Amino acid sequence: MRTANYRRRFFTGFLTISFLWGAFPASNLRAESPDEIQKKRTALMKKINKSMRLIRVYAGKGQMKDLAGAASEVSKLIDRIPESSPKGSAFGPKSRIKPEVWEDFDRYKKLTEKASAAARSLAKVGRAGDGAVLFSSFSSLAKACGACHKPFRKKKKKSE
Ligand code: HEC
Repeated sequence: MRTANYRRRFFTGFLTISFLWGAFPASNLRAESPDEIQKKRTALMKKINKSMRLIRVYAGKGQMKDLAGAASEVSKLIDRIPESSPKGSAFGPKSRIKPEVWEDFDRYKKLTEKASAAARSLAKVGRAGDGAVLFSSFSSLAKACGACHKPFRKKKKKSE
């Protein structure tokens, strides 16, 4: 049948494209500008913050499964922080990343891992539906955000 043939060709074509795409991701084809990296990092942090707000909403409603989902989303987003912070990528007047990040990138990565682990344990608490430790688990995660912001994020300007 012509349609079946067409479908098969489409499918192999698709596979080839995905293979090439995987082998040469966009970031290798074209270097991103600090401006683009900066925008992406801010967007990533905003996404993290949005999921944290969702977690608070779910906690209030006792929706533990949804809470678990949002917490594991947070951990995956957190994992992307170091790759979103290449050297010298502080750009523009709104950027708040401190240059100290690139003087001690190991510490930055360790703080990322800690925060990600805290988000994963919150997800576990959610899956178990363990309301008794929910608050302490959530605050450990919030503290882990602060543990990185304190040394590595500039204070907000008063005019903002
Ligand atoms: C390993 C370090 C690190 C961790 C962990 C981290 N952040 Fe951040 N965060 C930063 C840095 C650096 C900036 C400043 C980024 C910039 O301006 O380029 C930032 C910026 C932000 C911003 C401001 C975004 C804007 O609008 O400019 C928010 C909100 C935020 N983080 C939320 C969070 C939350 C919530 C968590 C924890 C769930 C978290 N972050 C965990 C390093 C971290």
